[in-house]
Amino acid sequence: MKTLKPFTKLFSGARKPKQEPLELKPVELPKPVELLNEHSKHFLTERYSQKETSALNYATVRDFCDSADNMSQVCYLNGDLKNVQRPWTIKAVLGAVPLGGKLLEIGGGIPLVAGMLAELGYDVTLVDPYEGMGNGPTEYEAYVQQFPNVNLVKSYFNADLVGYPESSFDCIYSVSVLEHVPQQGIKDVFDGIRKFLKPGGSSIHCIDVVIQGDGTQAHEDIFKEIFYHQKRLQELECLRSDTDKQCDEMLVTLKNDLETFYLSATGHHLWRCGQSYDDFPFRKVVSLQTCIPYIPSEI
Ligand SMILES: C[S@@+](CC[C@H](N)C(=O)[O-])C[C@H]1O[C@@H](n2cnc3c(N)ncnc32)[C@H](O)[C@@H]1O
Repeated sequence: MKTLKPFTKLFSGARKPKQEPLELKPVELPKPVELLNEHSKHFLTERYSQKETSALNYATVRDFCDSADNMSQVCYLNGDLKNVQRPWTIKAVLGAVPLGGKLLEIGGGIPLVAGMLAELGYDVTLVDPYEGMGNGPTEYEAYVQQFPNVNLVKSYFNADLVGYPESSFDCIYSVSVLEHVPQQGIKDVFDGIRKFLKPGGSSIHCIDVVIQGDGTQAHEDIFKEIFYHQKRLQELECLRSDTDKQCDEMLVTLKNDLETFYLSATGHHLWRCGQSYDDFPFRKVVSLQTCIPYIPSEI
């Protein structure tokens, strides 16, 4: 009988075990996952469709609680930022893209968001190399079994992605991915978005940003770089000084807002992944979120 590696990390929050089990037993292939029933599909569509999302915003406790009440399928209570980011992304897509639209998720890892959007009636492609980058998963084969309604493509996303015509997606989105892309790669990712997004389509992203503690300056700089490229989708000639100013103002606003959602101590502990606390001390992390339409300059 074929011996398969046990699938130990199918859903978030669960991280790589510190050591592999000693004995590898044969396991059954994972079964398809169903996240929604007919009632919840109808409810979510009614509640979140055609609601506008602002170009730049941040995760709030209010939005988290809305998600805990109404989207528990993708809102776990383990203190991780993804619990607010994944549902926010689904809401933003429902708000911007009519059902049936073609979506591409960059770096989806565990295809929970993609799977739920597919069940809601979208045509979803997820592009991820599944090499474990940024604490991401590697269980590509398991996800193919579990999420048969999502087109899973094992690849990096950029303008060289093969098999898809230009301007073929109504929305390209990501959850906690762009901050893991090395700075020189951000432009490549946005070249891909520009190539594969239809004019008028939406570019939607959640970005983890450290705002206090180790790495703050680097994180804020990465976020500014991402937002500059994002804004250029809408306004090719926009000035970097203007987008930096918008980011700075947003950071001031969120630091003064009681409602700002932070990565919790529990979430930080999961993120630490077994490193010593001295090597990986607590830092304050927020989710910056952006939703922008692609308006090519010639239109
Ligand atoms: C922190 S994980 C986030 C996973 C997922 N979005 C979620 O919500 O759980 C980052 C993921 O981005 C993927 N990734 C990084 N750079 C990428 C790129 N250029 N194209 C596609 N995926 C990428 C990694 O492989 C990893 O699975």
